[in-house]
Amino acid sequence: QTVDAEAIAAEIGEHASFMHKEMFEQPESLRRMLSGRLDHRFATVRLDGLGLDPRDLRSFKRVKAIGCGSAYYIGQLGASLIEDLARIPADAEPASEFRYRNPIIEPDTLYVAVSQSGETADTLFAVQEIQRKGGHVVGLVNVVGSSIARACGGGIYLHAGPEVSVASTKVLTHMGVGFAMLAVLLGRVRDLSHSDGARILAGLERIPDQVREILDREAEIGAVADVVADATSVFFIGRVRGYPVAREGAQKLKEISYLHAEAYPSSELKHGPLALISAEMPTVAIVPDDELVDRNIGALHEVSARQGPLVVVTHEAVEIDVEVARIDVPKNERELDPLLMTVPLQLLAHQVATRLGRDIDRPRNLAKSVTVE
Ligand code: G6P
Repeated sequence: QTVDAEAIAAEIGEHASFMHKEMFEQPESLRRMLSGRLDHRFATVRLDGLGLDPRDLRSFKRVKAIGCGSAYYIGQLGASLIEDLARIPADAEPASEFRYRNPIIEPDTLYVAVSQSGETADTLFAVQEIQRKGGHVVGLVNVVGSSIARACGGGIYLHAGPEVSVASTKVLTHMGVGFAMLAVLLGRVRDLSHSDGARILAGLERIPDQVREILDREAEIGAVADVVADATSVFFIGRVRGYPVAREGAQKLKEISYLHAEAYPSSELKHGPLALISAEMPTVAIVPDDELVDRNIGALHEVSARQGPLVVVTHEAVEIDVEVARIDVPKNERELDPLLMTVPLQLLAHQVATRLGRDIDRPRNLAKSVTVE
């Protein structure tokens, strides 16, 4: 396909890439996604497109997210939001694995197919496999009228607008918000209290401005990028809700910078990866200000004692007593903090790839949407 350089220049304007433009569209696009969907009176959300009434919503005993690449990692983050808020067992699986393992489809599981394009072949086949066996699947999809959206029938449209860059940014944040809304909806027909529902709705409303605050710190994050850009291999670590953030951060970095990046649960460090820590191997750690903060700081000590350089995505109130390059993000509710922590990792990957002179919007060997098997 020939690319008209002038048309691209006109479309991205002052931005260095589509990825950059799309990251900076997030505050506006997120506001649009939330608009009209929050029901403050009953501390719940309106997701009529799902086509599920309260009785249907109550009938699900399990939730399973399926998707590919970043959509899978956000599915993992979404599953943790659903467990936290709705107290329903939830997990995520790559659609490509799911469809080939003759999956057991349970009638009381809500399957959620997660896809930006709505055209990813593996995800579409997984949807068809679920339906063939009588399971209920809804879509969390960006492109209106796409194959997955049509196959699912019901779902939550993400309303993020077009995403051109292969590395997904704004759509992922929208997917995270979509899962948070689904979690509130499922929670409020169960044991999530009115006050907790209201607390999450207020948190969701703060997200667009907080994303803006993070984007405003691009230059600060640029300074931190040097720690990563000089390495050949980078670890990302996080615990529980922070682990999907680490996985998505590693994915973003490897997609556009071609550095080897690998995510581990922080608790697994001592069971293998510590052997690789040295002055040449930086670690990006996700350390939210929550009930696990002391344990997460313990992991920083383990890395630092072996001279491993550290970049820490954290909150202002967290005191860290070893040398680290810190990226502070604005505090939200503990359930929503992980989603906000994915945003500085988008900026970090972009900065590193820029320093390394990569073709950010069209990374080698990758396609925006994989529609073949
Ligand atoms: C491709 C892209 C990934 C993307 C995945 C899922 O592999 O390179 O960046 O996350 O497809 O795409 P989807 O459109 O289904 O979200």
